[in-house]
Amino acid sequence: MLDRSNTLLLSGTSHTRLHSCLYLFCSGSVFLFFSFLKTKGDDEIWLIEFYAPWCPVCEQLDPVWHQIGSELRSLGSPVHVGKSDATASKDLSKEFKILSFPAIVMLKKDMKYIYSGPKTKDEIMEFANRVSGPLVRHLSSVQLFQHVRTRHDVMIVYVGATSPLKGNFTSVAETLIVHTFFFSAPRDVLPKEVSLPSLPAVVIFKDGTYFTFNEEHDGDLQSWINRERFPNYNQIDGYTLYAMGESGKLVVLVVAEEKSLSQESLRYKSLVEKVSADYREIYSRNFYFGFMKGSEYIDGLVMGELSVPSFIVVNLSNDGFFMPLGAVQTERHLLDFLNGVLDGSIQGQGGNSIDLRAQRLLYNIKATVKPVFVRAPLYACFLLSLPLLVMVVLFRLCRKKLPPSADADGDGALLDPSLRRRRKPMDKKSD
Ligand SMILES: *[C@@H]1O[C@H](CO)[C@@H](O)[C@H](O)[C@H]1NC(C)=O
Ligand SMILES: *[C@@H]1O[C@H](CO)[C@@H](O)[C@H](O)[C@H]1NC(C)=O
Repeated sequence: MLDRSNTLLLSGTSHTRLHSCLYLFCSGSVFLFFSFLKTKGDDEIWLIEFYAPWCPVCEQLDPVWHQIGSELRSLGSPVHVGKSDATASKDLSKEFKILSFPAIVMLKKDMKYIYSGPKTKDEIMEFANRVSGPLVRHLSSVQLFQHVRTRHDVMIVYVGATSPLKGNFTSVAETLIVHTFFFSAPRDVLPKEVSLPSLPAVVIFKDGTYFTFNEEHDGDLQSWINRERFPNYNQIDGYTLYAMGESGKLVVLVVAEEKSLSQESLRYKSLVEKVSADYREIYSRNFYFGFMKGSEYIDGLVMGELSVPSFIVVNLSNDGFFMPLGAVQTERHLLDFLNGVLDGSIQGQGGNSIDLRAQRLLYNIKATVKPVFVRAPLYACFLLSLPLLVMVVLFRLCRKKLPPSADADGDGALLDPSLRRRRKPMDKKSD
């Protein structure tokens, strides 16, 4: 009943669908979408963008999305590309757990993979190729192994014949292929110096060395891979940092200038890199190390302007962070800082209480709007009215005591204020 006069622009034969599938769900009706899900072939793989008509980033993505569609087609990829207006239905957003727009989802078999990287053509294509391909890629020769080794900072490999562990490995790959590749190889394809206590084995090659999974020590295979799938030291951007939250480790960061690095930044960078390598045995259980250009992301987390360069330790599981008590100039200072975080003598700050999350949202809205105001005041007023609407809706939700199941409606309101406004009268009716 929510469906207005939605039209399916192109559904026709599979030929037209392939040819111009970009517009398949253009006017996005839930009803049509779900019936599409039922009728799509079991082996069809779909890459779908959920967009909102009011979202400028979606508009920017549009030409990229077209390119992705035509390039995948010309490469003979099995991936069909489509897009859908998610605001036409909150059920749809709920079904796909969509939290922001544009959302990119790959449907393969009965799995849904949500893309969370940068919205660039190359990254999205890489994602599409990785996820649409085999879960575990077999490396049958030394050359192939070496080739892949040079192209991946972190390489996760199952070594040995088929076994129950291989089954576990494959089912881990089924979930985590969204983030990384999974490989398998016979023992004699690995370099001679790799010593494995027994076969089969799961090995992660990274940081110029390798780590072997040990069930007794490392527990569950999936958690271990999730924890260890990043390089010990890395240049980190906002997307990577966010993804690293799943590892459960804290991240020790040097936050530096966005562009030309000062002498001091370079010094901080080599300090963190050295400590990460020299003390890996001691700290790699608890910490990842990284270097980040530009402080925007961290400013949003700490809700303030960090002076650059700075050291900070972030806990992405709870949006917490730790700042050193004094200047960090030497290795000793940095070690004291890390030890202070681990033994609790340095107080954690931030967190993800509802209060702090709301403050952070406001901070980020302010930070986004401020520069726009300076350049284009009228446009900024328009932008400002969006969060205001959100607040109005939230206020309304708070006053009206809602059953717990209405939570998702709250999310919907955050996502699409205009939709909520439109729906108001309907809510009344259903009360
Ligand atoms: C492999 O899977 C089985 C069954 O799900 C589970 O009991 C076992 O603990 C898993 N092994 C590892 C190493 O994760
Ligand atoms: C990081 O956050 C998690 C989740 O809240 C928490 O369990 C853990 O103790 C935190 N780590 C530190 C060092 O505060």
